[in-house]
Amino acid sequence: MAQRARGVMIVTLAGLLLSCQPAGRTATTKPAPATLPNTPMTMESAKAASERAERERVPLPAAWKLSSEGSTVVAPDAMVASNSALASQAGVEVLRAGGNAVDAAVAVGFALAVTLPEAGNLGGGGYMIIRLSDGRSFALDYREVAPLAASRDMFLDSQGNVTDKSQVGHLASGVPGSVAGLTAALARYGTMPLAKVMAPAIRLADSGFTVDSALARSIAGNASRISPFAGAALFLPGGHPLTVGAMFRQPALATTLRSIAATGATAFYSGAIADAIAAEMERGGGIITKTDLARYAPAWHAPLAGTFRGYTLLAMPPSSSGGISVLETLNILEHFPASPAGSAMSYHLLAEAFRRAFVDRNTKLGDPAFVQVPVSQLTSKEYARQQASSIDVNRASSTGAFRQATGEGVNTTHYSVVDDHGNAVATTTTLNDLYGSGVYVADAGIFLNDEMDDFAARPGQPNMYGLVQGEQNAIAPGKRMLSAMSPTIVLDPKGDLLLVIGSRGGPRIITSVAQVILNVIDHHMSYGQAMSEPRIHHQAWPDVLHYEPNGLSAATVDSLRAMGHRIEVAPYESGGFIGRVILVGRVADGWEGVVDPRTSGGAAGY
Ligand code: GLY
Repeated sequence: MAQRARGVMIVTLAGLLLSCQPAGRTATTKPAPATLPNTPMTMESAKAASERAERERVPLPAAWKLSSEGSTVVAPDAMVASNSALASQAGVEVLRAGGNAVDAAVAVGFALAVTLPEAGNLGGGGYMIIRLSDGRSFALDYREVAPLAASRDMFLDSQGNVTDKSQVGHLASGVPGSVAGLTAALARYGTMPLAKVMAPAIRLADSGFTVDSALARSIAGNASRISPFAGAALFLPGGHPLTVGAMFRQPALATTLRSIAATGATAFYSGAIADAIAAEMERGGGIITKTDLARYAPAWHAPLAGTFRGYTLLAMPPSSSGGISVLETLNILEHFPASPAGSAMSYHLLAEAFRRAFVDRNTKLGDPAFVQVPVSQLTSKEYARQQASSIDVNRASSTGAFRQATGEGVNTTHYSVVDDHGNAVATTTTLNDLYGSGVYVADAGIFLNDEMDDFAARPGQPNMYGLVQGEQNAIAPGKRMLSAMSPTIVLDPKGDLLLVIGSRGGPRIITSVAQVILNVIDHHMSYGQAMSEPRIHHQAWPDVLHYEPNGLSAATVDSLRAMGHRIEVAPYESGGFIGRVILVGRVADGWEGVVDPRTSGGAAGY
C-alpha cells in the first residue's frame, strides 16, 4: 500500500443519516457487471468518484430513507471503523505510532469501554478474527462463561416459568472475558506494550470527553436499566441523564485501566478489580466469585474457512454460531444464480437459506467444549447442496417442520482494523443488552454483562418470549453461551484482503453480515450502498420474514406473500432497522471504512 502522508480523515455519525432516495426500485435494476466487486474509489480520484456514482445508481424503493452519502471514509494506508469516532481515532493513534492492526484493535477495544458504555466493555466478552499480511489467520474466543455455581434451571421460578433474572441484575452475568481476550491478542500478535495501546483509553477516562447526541440518547433511553444500580450516580447525576455537551469523566474506570496497563489481565482476574466484582456480586446476590474470575481463559482456534463464488471467508467458529450460519447461508445461495438486488426472488432465496441455517443453528450448536457440534457437516458444500435442493424457487417452505428459535440480546458492537502492511482484525464484543445487566461495579467503573440470557433457560420449551432454544445450549458451569457474533474477513478470488466486517444485532448479526457480503459480491455494489441497502431477516422461528420499514416495494411484498411467506415490517428497536454493520473494505488505492447509516460511529484512516 502506498505510503503517502495525509491527514487523518474522520466521519462521525451522531445518529442516523437520512436523506431521500428519489429513484423507485423497478424492473430496471441495473444488471450486475461481470467484473470483480471490490469498488475502486477514493476521495481524490475523479475516475473513482464517477465509478462510485455509477454503482450507486442501483435503484431503491421510493420511500427508502437511508443514504450512503457521508458515511464512508477512504484513506490510502490504514483504516479503523467502529461505533465510536473517538475509539477509531485511538486505533489510528496507535497505528501512527508504529503499531500493527492487533495493537490498534486492542486500543480500540479498551477505548470503546470508555466512549461506548452501552456496549464497549471490560465486563463482557467477544470474538476476534486476525489475518496477518503473511496469510496466517487466527480466531480468538473471549466469550463469557457461566459461573461455577450456575445451574441448568437457575432462571426458572417454582412453577417452571422463565424469569427475567437472566437479563437484569446480578445473576444475569457470565464471567467476563474481554480483558483476558484483548491482552491475549496483544501478547501473541501485537508489537507494543499494553500500557502504550491502553494510553488513549486511559486518557479518555481520565480527562473525559464531550457527551454527543448518540451517547446522551443512549443513556436517556436506557435510564430504567441503569437507575436501579450504582451506575446511576455517574450516568444519571441528580436523577437526570447526562446531556449533550457535558464533559464525561470516569475516574474509577481510569484507575481500573491504569491497573490493567501496569500488571496485565491479572489485575482484573485476581487483583483489586476481581475483589470489587466479587464484592458487588455478594452485595447483590450474584454468583460470580474470585475463583470464577481466576479460572477464566480465552480460547484460540483456527477460523472457519469457507468460500462463496470464489471468494474466501474467514469466520468465527463456535462458541459463536456466526461463522457456521453465515457460511451455511452463502453455501446454499451459491446453488442459485444471483437475482437482481431488491427482487422478490432474491429475498425469497435469502429467507429460505436463512431459515435452514437458523434451524441448524438453534438445534445443533453450543459450546464445543461441552457438546458435539457438527461443524464440518454444516459448513460443507455437499450439505449445502442438499439444503438448496429442498428449496422451491416458487414457494416458501415452513419452519413448522423444524423447531427452535433464538432470543439473544441485540446490542453488541463491532470494529474493523486494517494496517499499512495489510494485517487485519475483525472484532465483535458485547454486554448483550445495552448496559448489560445494569449492574455497575462502582469501585471498578464497569458495567457487567447479561450474557446468561444467551443460554437456553428452559431447553426445548418456550421462554418468556415464546421462543424455544436447544438442549445443546443449556446452562452448565464453565460453559460458554451460544452467540451470533460474526466477525468475518473476506478475501478476493486472488486471496487478497477485501473486507473486514461484522455487526451488532443479536441474531440479525448473521443475516446483516451475510446480506452486506452478498451486496458486494453478487450485486457489485459500492460499500456505501451495500451497507445502506434495505435488509430482511428470517430466523426460522417465528416463521416470519421481517423487512425494514419502506425497504421493500409494495409489489415485492405482494410477490413474497403470494409465494407463501408470512411477511411483516420488522418490529425491532430503533425504527425497525435490521443490524448495524461496520466494515473496512479494499478500494483501488487504499481502504474504505463504512459505518452503517443505521447507527452512530466513525471511521478514521490515513
Ligand atoms: N449477545 C448477543 C450475541 O452474542 O449474539
